[in-house]
Amino acid sequence: MSTELPESAVPPPTDAHESSPAPSRRAFIATTTAVGGAVVAGGVIGGTSLVGPEEAAAADASPSSRVSLTVNGTRRSVTVDNRTSLLDLLRERFGLGGSKKGCNAGACGACTVLVDGRRVNSCLTLAVRLEGAEVTTIEGLAEGDELHPLQQAFIEQDAFQCGYCTPGQIMSGVGCIQEGHTDSPEEIREWLSGNICRCGCYVKIVRAVEQTAGRK
Ligand code: FES
Ligand code: FES
Repeated sequence: MSTELPESAVPPPTDAHESSPAPSRRAFIATTTAVGGAVVAGGVIGGTSLVGPEEAAAADASPSSRVSLTVNGTRRSVTVDNRTSLLDLLRERFGLGGSKKGCNAGACGACTVLVDGRRVNSCLTLAVRLEGAEVTTIEGLAEGDELHPLQQAFIEQDAFQCGYCTPGQIMSGVGCIQEGHTDSPEEIREWLSGNICRCGCYVKIVRAVEQTAGRK
């Protein structure tokens, strides 16, 4: 059997391509690859800058936004880098160091605060998303010299050792009580399970929440 293709299936002579001003596919890929590498390396090809200094500065500058929120009853307005977490805003801009940075990845609960009454990991919450929000941190729980009942219960139950997790535990406990998840020690444990205590004070933490919820 013949293996020759019919004439209609054979591409036209290559003269048409060779005389065309358009670059071949191989040349095009070679050129764009080289250009891409040069741009990544600094926007310069053969000593000629492709990106002006103003464009380069604009590309380097991270976008920022203005945000207004209420923290512990005080209205605050700030301009923040859009990537700033609520935790960094609280600690580094507002000087509220009570919320702790443990994992900075949503795994330990040391950074727990209340946003509009709901518990959140502030390390995973973008500050720019909080326009108009009400934020409560551990610094905002006491009324003057009078501790919040859960703060008092932590002291009475001796529910901490090193204390690093304690602000997050207390804020999470306040949320747990407000949500009504306190019908049993097991339920409290379940709803506080996102808050890790490396010192292992769990039994006493649960007792403190139970006491505050009025079960003892
Ligand atoms: Fe936010 Fe660990 S620091 S969850
Ligand atoms: Fe030390 Fe909880 S008291 S980590």
